Amino acid sequence: MKDNWADRAASLLREECADDFYKKILYRESTGSSNEWMKEAGEAGEPSCIAGIAEEQTAGKGRLGRTWVSPKGENIYFSLLLRPDVEPRHAATLTLVMGLTVAQAIRETTGLPVGIKWPNDVVINHRKVCGILTEMKADPEKIEYVVIGTGINVNQTDFAEAISSMATSLRIESGMREIDRAVLLESVLRHFRENFLLFEKTEDLSGLMEAYDALLVNRGQCVRIEDPKGPYTAVSKGIDETGALIVVREDGTEERISSGEVSVRGLYGYV
Ligand code: BTN
Repeated sequence: MKDNWADRAASLLREECADDFYKKILYRESTGSSNEWMKEAGEAGEPSCIAGIAEEQTAGKGRLGRTWVSPKGENIYFSLLLRPDVEPRHAATLTLVMGLTVAQAIRETTGLPVGIKWPNDVVINHRKVCGILTEMKADPEKIEYVVIGTGINVNQTDFAEAISSMATSLRIESGMREIDRAVLLESVLRHFRENFLLFEKTEDLSGLMEAYDALLVNRGQCVRIEDPKGPYTAVSKGIDETGALIVVREDGTEERISSGEVSVRGLYGYV
């Protein structure tokens, strides 16, 4: 059988990294949700570092119970099964690690002006090109497994009206040039391996903060913090080693904002 693009990505990766960080790189023509697929693999006792890549998802999941529309033949949908040796409270930080990874891989393979909107939206020209959904099974002391699901809008050119002002794809942003999904996926898997190993060593983002801040779109800019106690404007400075966003209020006081607590917007829109 002819190799699919995920197999091609796996062989490109073998040329670049000789180790066996990824125990398996699996591909399905169709699946409900690659997160559900990798959660089943976690329940079945599969080891850490398995990638499940889908050509299409019939029940793709987004954050906050939303649907992630996942048409065939255009984009990348994949999930990683990990059993990281870190405390459960640090697992959410892996979402930022993946956001950084995708931004680095897009920049490396396309040269597009990609950035990160804190905490983990990957954006080009103020529009989102990637979504990440992290799910975990853990007891209070130990993580059993984490699944990080990532959807990258690669060659999609039509978006539903409801999201078209906020979403874009690499193809649209590169003047309709078709992007090779295998080359991009290889770069994502390679950067993730490197970033994850750094993260696991310190259980935080101390080794990745500099790279992350360099890609943070609203760094040094005025942002609106949608705090449940009342919105306010502040200047965003970058992240700390936990992934919290450091902002400085107009009166000079510094706040550290944790993801999940509040959302951060540009003064005039989404970014
Ligand atoms: C978001 O709402 O921004 C997160 C979207 C996450 C989508 C990806 S696609 C691969 C993986 N499988 C899923 O069902 N969802 C994630």
